[in-house]
Amino acid sequence: MENPTALEPLILSDDFNYALERMEAGANLFITGRAGTGKSTLLQIFRRSTQKNVVVVAPTGVAALNVGGQTIHSLFGFPPRLLQKKDVRPNRRYKRLFLNLETLVIDEISMVRADMMMAIDYALKINRDSGKPFGGVQVIFFGDLYQLPPVVSTQEERNWFSLKYSSAYFFAAPCLDYIDLEMIELQQVYRQDSTHFLRLLEAIRNATMDYEELESLNERHVEDFTVEEGDNYLTLAARNATVNKINVTALAENQNPEMLYVAKVTGSFKENLFPVPGALKLKVGAQVMTVRNDTDRKYVNGTIGTVKECKPESVIITIKEDGKTADIEVGYEEWDIIRYKADDADLTKIGTESMGKFKQIPVRLAWAVTIHKSQGKTFDRIIIDLGSGGAFEHGQTYVALSRCRTLEGIVLRRPLTPRDVMIDPAVVEYYEMMRR
Ligand SMILES: Nc1ncnc2c1ncn2[C@@H]1O[C@H](COP(=O)(O)OP(=O)(O)OP(=O)(O)O)[C@@H](O)[C@H]1O
Ligand SMILES: [Mg+2]
Repeated sequence: MENPTALEPLILSDDFNYALERMEAGANLFITGRAGTGKSTLLQIFRRSTQKNVVVVAPTGVAALNVGGQTIHSLFGFPPRLLQKKDVRPNRRYKRLFLNLETLVIDEISMVRADMMMAIDYALKINRDSGKPFGGVQVIFFGDLYQLPPVVSTQEERNWFSLKYSSAYFFAAPCLDYIDLEMIELQQVYRQDSTHFLRLLEAIRNATMDYEELESLNERHVEDFTVEEGDNYLTLAARNATVNKINVTALAENQNPEMLYVAKVTGSFKENLFPVPGALKLKVGAQVMTVRNDTDRKYVNGTIGTVKECKPESVIITIKEDGKTADIEVGYEEWDIIRYKADDADLTKIGTESMGKFKQIPVRLAWAVTIHKSQGKTFDRIIIDLGSGGAFEHGQTYVALSRCRTLEGIVLRRPLTPRDVMIDPAVVEYYEMMRR
């Protein structure tokens, strides 16, 4: 199974140890902290070290694949819409799994909606024949509410929400009133180490930046910035249309012949679970990103490089890091798309089964990605393009800026304005309440 953290030596801070202790003790937890404090890393450590029957889920397919888990929707059999009690049914297939379940871990909790939280509580109750909150299962939530919020796309959904819940966030779900949810805030940021940059990130996160701090960030604005040959900058854009335009234009401008890599798919799972395109078009000179960790440690999830050669069964990519360049060969990799099930050998345990396999070169075109897709990742050089409309989501600018290890690695397409920095008062209030 993919392990996004295997490459780095880990510091087991007091925070990490305390959180692990509380997780083992069975506490219901909300483990939070600024971007880069190691939340996802801690999740993996817990999953690997615990003896408990744990299931790890996430609100989106990409997030689930990242932690080797399953989507909330597929585990619980929820329909892809706003959820009501009638959408939750007993699930014969998963009966034994739910009965054996001790701990439910949810990653990227900031994107979990209140109605989903309610449905999870109810589904665990009816599948475990238990009236206890969450059917008596320990819940552990990981995430940072100052990052991207849940998706409530249509006006209709927004209306429905404002009638039923105080906000769209998971914490607006009344079922949480019946458990003791302890908040643990991880303090140490591992992704960045400059105190100056961390201070600026903090000001953006809390929307407390003053004129001087904004000016300091805007020194990273470069009029008509062009990327020098051989430098790999990834554009993080607010809008999908910008991302598509950048990638399509850049690939079309490249005059080299196009190579098509077709994924080999076995089993049955939907295309939205594909980690990279099923039909991958590459050219020599294309900028790409690897999307998983290589066992030989040559590349990791998020490494950016330039295609040097397209071979029939692999791609040679040139990577520039710390002023040095290296060529790496990336061949076909296989993903196992899993779902949880009861363990046939040990009736008290939970196992996994494969829904199918997806085999493809683990790269995607990466002149640009959306800020949404960048959540959770770490990069060395980025261009932030909020477009003429600017940021439109709470936390969007914070997520973009906090992806980069250094301030010097960031280029702003446009200067930031106070309007690009939005935080939700509901989030501030929730954290204040939880800290008391
Ligand atoms: N205990 C640790 N010791 C050393 N490095 C760490 C530790 N925890 C995390 N890191 C490194 O710091 C970076 C950020 O970690 P991680 O992605 O787990 O943070 P996160 O809190 O999940 O961030 P985000 O909120 O952006 O998702 C990664 O490069 C990770 O390998
Ligand atoms: Mg994370």
